[in-house]
Amino acid sequence: MTHTAPQNPIALEARAPDGARLSSASASRNKAPISEALAGLLPPEARVFEVASGTGEHALACVTRRPDLIWTPSEPDPASRASVNAWAQEAEGRMRSCLDIDVMQPGWSGGHDPFDALFCANMIHIAPWEAAVGVFEGARDLIASGGAVHLYGPFLDGERTAPSNLQFDTDLKRRDPRWGVRSLEAVDALAADHGFDRTGRLDMPANNLLLSWERRS
Ligand SMILES: C[S@@+](CC[C@H](N)C(=O)[O-])C[C@H]1O[C@@H](n2cnc3c(N)ncnc32)[C@H](O)[C@@H]1O
Repeated sequence: MTHTAPQNPIALEARAPDGARLSSASASRNKAPISEALAGLLPPEARVFEVASGTGEHALACVTRRPDLIWTPSEPDPASRASVNAWAQEAEGRMRSCLDIDVMQPGWSGGHDPFDALFCANMIHIAPWEAAVGVFEGARDLIASGGAVHLYGPFLDGERTAPSNLQFDTDLKRRDPRWGVRSLEAVDALAADHGFDRTGRLDMPANNLLLSWERRS
């Protein structure tokens, strides 16, 4: 019998289990700086849609820091969804049930109420470029005028690119030629094509960026 590899295998970072709750070393490290930075960017009582929530630790850190937020997590990976929902028990109702969303599925954003912001960390480099396209196609449906997309992760930025991110890009492409650290210029162009203009860039620890694009009116 022959087995065909899944067309788009999902890459997950290393995670330690505690019942259904998973903990990733990277999310444990960066949840404080991410939640602090996002807290300064999101409007009061913002409805936030998160793509690729991973373990759910970022979501919990964000709603703990900003209890006014209403957070909708999503994940295509079932064990990750279970982890997000387990962490959500500590969120006192501010995290909704984790949705099963693969942004490479056409029309993934249909049938939802509007959101004020879309957040996605550490995904578009470890998935085919079509996943980045899917993020902005969905954001065009989900985010109303004045709302924003916030992406966290490594980016290529010409001469400002950190050597560690160039090495990371090479490693990713070796694992799957469709993956790779994305060029800031290419993501800006993608965002602009979908009605979003860049409004922010924050340097984050370990040569990551938190980038923001606002929906044009
Ligand atoms: C490196 S992990 C990052 C998880 C979390 N955002 C974080 O920063 O800790 C990449 C995540 O992207 C998700 N992912 C991969 N392909 C995806 C897709 N096409 N649509 C939505 N999520 C995807 C995986 O399930 C995984 O949870």
